[in-house]
Amino acid sequence: MVEQVNDLVAGQLRYYRARAAEYDATSYGAVSGERASVPAIVDRLGISGDVIELACGTGIWTAELVRHAATLTALDGAPEMLELARQRVPTGVRFERVDLFNWTPTESWDVVFFSAWLSHVPADRFAGFWSSVEAALRPGGRALALDELPSRSFHEGQIQGEVAIRTLQDGTTHEVVKVFWEPDDLASRLATLEWQASVTPIEHGWFILDATRPPQ
Ligand SMILES: C[S@@+](CC[C@H](N)C(=O)[O-])C[C@H]1O[C@@H](n2cnc3c(N)ncnc32)[C@H](O)[C@@H]1O
Repeated sequence: MVEQVNDLVAGQLRYYRARAAEYDATSYGAVSGERASVPAIVDRLGISGDVIELACGTGIWTAELVRHAATLTALDGAPEMLELARQRVPTGVRFERVDLFNWTPTESWDVVFFSAWLSHVPADRFAGFWSSVEAALRPGGRALALDELPSRSFHEGQIQGEVAIRTLQDGTTHEVVKVFWEPDDLASRLATLEWQASVTPIEHGWFILDATRPPQ
């Protein structure tokens, strides 16, 4: 079981490395224009202070976070993604290559932000991931995340349990983790880890998770 999950998350990262060059053309409703909502969503999150973004991808959210953060650090496991993010946001961001399933923060921040990442965290790694987020936050710090509601699962061609099959433009197929959280289930699961979280549906079938670091 542990080995299966290890293989799955390693394959997921290989998939995103291979997808980097086509990511912007195929993500965030590149056709229907969902990406146009990103700046206004970030504006209403009330972000300030030192911010770290996890799984920054090509920097779609990084480019907006940098307008609000006193300092911004952005992590991703795929060097190909980081290179594109660096091109999109050439100044004001410290980019680092980090495998988030083996991440022990050595600094702390006021805000930890991640978009379209939580749904890629397998159930087996959920608690471990959140203890890394907790370790990255200062007292009173916030975790802010955006992800997809179950109503968007129609985007996945094939999905079984928490594994979805994705196809790249070269025709290769890849397994990724995809967990579509119901807002109440996610808030309850986080409560078992002592996070106080609100999970609010927003436009496009997305939700915003706003969680406060558990007391020490
Ligand atoms: C769905 S994309 C989200 C990118 C960006 N946050 C966005 O909303 O456009 C998932 C990102 O997770 C990154 N990723 C996958 N596995 C990872 C891992 N083990 N550690 C760090 N990043 C990883 C991928 O490289 C990719 O950039």
